[in-house]
Amino acid sequence: LSNASVEEEKTLAMIKPDGLFSNHTDAIKKVILDSGFHIFEEMITQLNKDGASSFYAEHSSKSFFSSLIKYMTSGPVLVMVLEKENAIADWRNLIGPTDARKAKSTHPHSIRAMCGQDLEKNCVHGSDSLQSAPREISFFFGGTLSGTEATMHDEL
Ligand code: PPS
Repeated sequence: LSNASVEEEKTLAMIKPDGLFSNHTDAIKKVILDSGFHIFEEMITQLNKDGASSFYAEHSSKSFFSSLIKYMTSGPVLVMVLEKENAIADWRNLIGPTDARKAKSTHPHSIRAMCGQDLEKNCVHGSDSLQSAPREISFFFGGTLSGTEATMHDEL
């Protein structure tokens, strides 16, 4: 197989406020690179309420929504575009189950087991599908500095 025949895929990865706050960034990046991902773009940013609500719009009717938005706006996040073959599914597998407490028992080598705490403070995010990945990537890296999106998150 030559490189040219490998279909690269991009996904959005995010280190959430608890992950940045507890200094897990270097360890997470090491796992990312050791697992064969290329970090195509990255940025530290701070979500505001409108931005977090828009990013998580599909969960707006869930009971945990307001708590999730409060948490996701509580501090800076590091967003990365990861690139590799099968990036979306492979990144989701690497981060482990949503509930970091569960991850510690069932997926002890996952990133959430390593640095997450519970269902809310679960350290990292990953796009969940071929549909959400390009939407989430352009949410952060769409390049509109003067559009409405610029008011939703501010580059630090
Ligand atoms: S669902 O209901 O299955 O669609 O939700 P799920 O995919 O498990 O989670 C979606 C995101 O919401 C976060 N989440 C929560 N936050 C706070 N409190 C509770 N109880 C809670 N449950 C789920 C979860 O971490 C997911 O965030 P992302 O960033 O997408 O991983």
